[in-house]
Amino acid sequence: MIDLFSDISAGCELTIPIAHHKVVGVIGAGGIVTGAHLPAYRKAGLPVHAITDIDSEKAQSAAEEFNITRVYSSAKELLADPDIEVVDIAVPAAEQPALLLAALEAGKHVLAQKPLSTTVEDALDMAAKAQETGLHVGVNQQLRFDEGIAAAHRMVDLGWIGKVSGFSITVNLDTPWHLWDWALSMPRLEVLVHSIHYHDVVRWFFGEPSKVFAVAGRTDGQAPVGETRTASTYLYDSGVVALVHANHVNHGGDNTAEFRIDGSEGSIRGTLGLLYDYPDGRCDTLEVKSNVVPTDGWVPYPVTQRWIPDAFIGTMGSVLAAIAGEGEIRSPISDNVNTIRLIHALYQSIETGSAVEL
Ligand SMILES: NC(=O)c1ccc[n+]([C@@H]2O[C@H](COP(=O)([O-])OP(=O)(O)OC[C@H]3O[C@@H](n4cnc5c(N)ncnc54)[C@H](O)[C@@H]3O)[C@@H](O)[C@H]2O)c1
Repeated sequence: MIDLFSDISAGCELTIPIAHHKVVGVIGAGGIVTGAHLPAYRKAGLPVHAITDIDSEKAQSAAEEFNITRVYSSAKELLADPDIEVVDIAVPAAEQPALLLAALEAGKHVLAQKPLSTTVEDALDMAAKAQETGLHVGVNQQLRFDEGIAAAHRMVDLGWIGKVSGFSITVNLDTPWHLWDWALSMPRLEVLVHSIHYHDVVRWFFGEPSKVFAVAGRTDGQAPVGETRTASTYLYDSGVVALVHANHVNHGGDNTAEFRIDGSEGSIRGTLGLLYDYPDGRCDTLEVKSNVVPTDGWVPYPVTQRWIPDAFIGTMGSVLAAIAGEGEIRSPISDNVNTIRLIHALYQSIETGSAVEL
C-alpha cells in the first residue's frame, strides 16, 4: 500500500525547477498575495522581481516583507518594464479583464486570479486574445493542486474506485467576509467567489455536465448583500451525479469541509483542512476504500501539503513549466472559460428556479 501511495504522492509534488524561473511581476498586494502567493513562491525558491497596487503602502509593505526590489506606482508602469516576463494578477474580479488584456498587449505571460471575470463575455474575450498572442495564460484555480483533491483525482484516474457514480462537497463555515470589502456589495457572491473552486474541481474530474440545478439563500443579519448559502446539483450523460453545498454563516462554531467520491469499486472521502480555521488552516485528510487495490477497509493517505500556501506553487509552477515547454497548464484560460460558463448557468438556475441544460 505504501508503494502505491508513493506513486500518488509523486504526482502531487509541488516544485518549481530553477530552469523554469522567469522574471515575475505581481499586480495586487492584498490578502491573498501576502498570505498565499508570495509565501508559496518563497517556499518554492522562486524570486519575485516587481510588485504594484493602487494602495502604494500595501505594495511597499509586501515588497519589504518578501524582498521584492522594484515597487511600481501603477500596473501600467509595471507592464512597461521590459524585463518582466510573467505577470501574476490578484485584484478583485471586476478589475481583472482590463489588466489581463493590457498584460497580453505588453507581451507578458499571465497567471490570473479566480474568478477570471464576472461575465462570460469578458472571459471569452480574454481567452480569444490569449490565443491570438500565443502567450501562456493560467487561472489560479489552485484547488486542482491541493494535495487531498489532487491525490483523489489520481486515485480516480488509476481506477481505484471503479466507475464513478457520485461526487459531493459540503462546507459549513463561519466565513470572515469583512476581510474583503469589495465582496460585501457583490450581488453574486458565494458561487462566483468561493464555490467556484469546487465547481471548477467537479469539471476537472468529470468535464462538462449535461444539466445543472441550483438554489441560493441568505441568513438574517448577514453582512454581505449576495447569497451565502448555495446548493448546486449536476447531472452528467455518463450518469455521474454531483453536489456542491456551501453555507458561510455557520454560528455553530463547528466548521466542516468534506468531500466524497463514490464508484462501483470503492469510495474516497476527505476534508479540506484550510477551511476549518481559515486562513491558518490545517492539513487535509484523505481516505480510500478500494476493491481494486485492494484495501482492507478505509486506509488513510498521508497528506503533507496545504491548500495555502502549497497549492499556489502548483498554479504558478504549471504556467512556468508550460512556458519552458515542459508541460501543460493544469488550469489554462481556454478551460477556465467553461468554469465561468458553468457559474453563469448555476446563477441562471438560481434566478429562474429551473434546471439549465449546458
Ligand atoms: N485563489 C484563492 O483561493 C483566492 C483566495 C482569496 C482571494 N482570491 C481572489 O484574489 C483577488 C484578490 O483578493 P484578496 O483577498 O487579495 O483581496 P484584498 O481586498 O485583500 O486585496 C485586493 C488588492 O487589490 C488591489 N487592487 C484593486 N484594484 C487594483 C488595480 N486596478 N491595480 C492594482 N491593484 C489593485 C487593492 O488595493 C488590494 O490591495 C480576488 O479576485 C479574490 O477573488 C483568490
